[in-house]
Amino acid sequence: MSITETLQVRVKSITWEAEGILSYELWPVAPHKELPPFEAGAHIDVHLPNGLIRNYSLFNSPQERHRYLIGVNKDPQSRGGSRYLHEVLRPGDTLTVSAPRNNFPLDEAAASSVFIAGGIGITPVLGMIRRLQALGRPWQLFYAARTRKNAAFVETLQALRDDAGATLQLSFDREPGASMLDIPAITNALPAGAHVYCCGPLPMLDAFEQATAGLPPERVHREYFAARESAATAGGFTVELVRSGRSIEVASGQTILDCLLNAGIEPPYSCQEGICGTCEVRVLAGLPDHRDLVLSEAEKASNQRMMICCSGAKGSKLVLDL
Ligand code: FES
Repeated sequence: MSITETLQVRVKSITWEAEGILSYELWPVAPHKELPPFEAGAHIDVHLPNGLIRNYSLFNSPQERHRYLIGVNKDPQSRGGSRYLHEVLRPGDTLTVSAPRNNFPLDEAAASSVFIAGGIGITPVLGMIRRLQALGRPWQLFYAARTRKNAAFVETLQALRDDAGATLQLSFDREPGASMLDIPAITNALPAGAHVYCCGPLPMLDAFEQATAGLPPERVHREYFAARESAATAGGFTVELVRSGRSIEVASGQTILDCLLNAGIEPPYSCQEGICGTCEVRVLAGLPDHRDLVLSEAEKASNQRMMICCSGAKGSKLVLDL
């Protein structure tokens, strides 16, 4: 299945997981069909009837082909995504989703894996832990939530920990006498050769970036749920599209993606905030002004690819493989 293709799934069940968090079990609409395979850490795009597209991590075992499981936190600032899923969607309804895509892959060969998760950031991590458990590989999890009532999947994680003899540390920073997760202490005590992963709110990811700045980049993995900086909309450059033979002017106040859509060109896109990787395009010439949270620093420095939903140009022209 290509990145632009979608499939229909049916909501088999909806489960309360914690205060403000529901999980959705999605089955193929066609009976006895398998869903496209996925790796631990992958997400799907959910296309909502109101035109919004939202990305949700899969938390079931990648060995399962009959269903996808996603967890959805009800965001009080929801622009219609999580609110729709929580308030309107019911078991038996159908949804349009993309094939799974993975920007947060698990290194299955690592000597050990250490995870730091905050809030709904536990969802991709749970899928990764299930995969490590199946492989018989060691893991540690440090999981922070506001309170115990807000922490999803705790019993599942405790059962996985008991089976594996793994480390599970829970921390609830809004409970009386609580303290914040000490991320520098965790990263200073990593087992030799360990890979370390983080998914959670921006302050947690900022602390993680600082604490892991001195580690080899290939051992450090993170996934963002929200943009850190605004899109590049200064405009004033031309985008040359070699495959379609067109040239598009990007005016001030618009992203490259806005201009392409206005010109009737429909490249794949989803989150529109530089976090899902769907709009990635090869750069054939010119210098992008990278604003995404998908490419690594080394990938950004090589300027071979860019996310056109949020990144702009540092010069007067970009030539793209579109
Ligand atoms: S659409 Fe998600 S990164 Fe561009």
